[in-house]
Amino acid sequence: MIKSPRGTRDLLPPDTALWNFVEATVRDVFRAYNFHEIRTPIFESTELFARGVGEETDIVSKEMFTWEDRGRGAISSSGSPPRSKSVSGADSRSGSFSGAGDSDRGQSLTLRPENTAGVVRAYIEHKLWDRGLNKLFYIGPQFRRERPQKGRYRQFYQIGAEVIGPAAAGSQSPARDAEILELLATLLDRVGITNWTLELNSVGCPADRAKFNEALRQALAPVVDKMCADCQRRAVTNPLRVFDCKVPADQPIIDTLPTISQFLDEDCRTHYEAVKDILNAVQIPYQENLRLVRGLDYYQKTAFEFTHGALGAQNAILGGGRYDGLSEDLGGPAAPGIGFAIGEDRLVLSLTASAESVVRKPDVYIAPLGAGMNREAARVARELRRHDLVVDLGDEAFRLKKSFEAADKMGARYILIVGENEVKANAFALKHLASGEQVTVPRGQLAERIVQK
Ligand code: HAM
Repeated sequence: MIKSPRGTRDLLPPDTALWNFVEATVRDVFRAYNFHEIRTPIFESTELFARGVGEETDIVSKEMFTWEDRGRGAISSSGSPPRSKSVSGADSRSGSFSGAGDSDRGQSLTLRPENTAGVVRAYIEHKLWDRGLNKLFYIGPQFRRERPQKGRYRQFYQIGAEVIGPAAAGSQSPARDAEILELLATLLDRVGITNWTLELNSVGCPADRAKFNEALRQALAPVVDKMCADCQRRAVTNPLRVFDCKVPADQPIIDTLPTISQFLDEDCRTHYEAVKDILNAVQIPYQENLRLVRGLDYYQKTAFEFTHGALGAQNAILGGGRYDGLSEDLGGPAAPGIGFAIGEDRLVLSLTASAESVVRKPDVYIAPLGAGMNREAARVARELRRHDLVVDLGDEAFRLKKSFEAADKMGARYILIVGENEVKANAFALKHLASGEQVTVPRGQLAERIVQK
């Protein structure tokens, strides 16, 4: 038997109803905060993540699914015609299109491990700054080669949002940070998740981090040979990343290291205080976590995670922060930004609502009875579905008992019998399955009768 690859899983009904409930709810919330959807490719050039997320991060150094593009020749050799050069280029309705050509041969590509770098790439590529402040959201799969466990998958889903734009549009303001955090509290509340903890920190600006890294280097020097191989490397290349270490034996050493809070300059300190001030005003509770540095290199100033007790070891339901220098690092203009990504898999795991409670069961199951009745049943089903009823159908080959069993199994509220006599009389036997009550209803009144609970 061929199984789904390690770390991936099939999302099946009725669980998919929960996913759809979550996605519909978050779309509503995003609308209320004036966010608009962006869809970027699920693979990008590897360089984007190396430069954006950072070479020394676990994500880039260990977890990416990367391959070398075989170029156009490989596609045509498998029998498909090569794409004509003339189709590459912009089409204003379908979005701009990067056509495949031989120039792609050997290009290193990577399944996106996260989507902030892709969104900022799109911001630069499409000059989105012309629109002022951009409030963008996305929902989609991400890929990381991690060791699978509960709440940790190799293909997982993120619901994310980014606010990015020129400083003149207010993108650098602490008001944006607070708005994002307040949005998240609202969003979790709307999907029914309580008991979350907002952990907050400021990771400062690059100048603060240079000082902090130097202090870390000094603090690590006498102890680093007792730490894991990764930490020994990080201590030289990017000491801040030592805080990503999960090795239990290293934790007592990490606990003694200085924290970034001691190195924040005036601007970062004021920004951080302003964010907390607005959070207090809108009554969003938070806990400061001075060791929270986040596992991606692009963060500056505000960094945060929301955790949830029900999740066990993988307790971060979402994470995010400010990335004011990312656009410039990727060759774009100055464009301060802040965003977050929710792990949708983890969000669904934390829901108290059951799939059963959000799934919409059939209002009526139509049982065609006897030869030629599939045709009549199809007509009745079509009429009823026009009234926004959920309708399912049996088959004229089924005995009535089998139709009842099928209706019961799918949890239909009513069963409707469509036999020759009913069609002649233009009135149908409608049975309420829970109460057993059966009535004959003229065709024109069926929908109205079924809509009544
Ligand atoms: P991240 O912290 O790497 O941040 O991921 C965000 C969330 O994605 C995590 O809190 C977790 O819930 C979920 N997640 C990460 N890895 C896995 C996995 N292997 N399996 C299941 N869920 C996972 C980012 O990705 C940033 N791009 C967030 C951001 C947006 N920062 C600014 N804007």
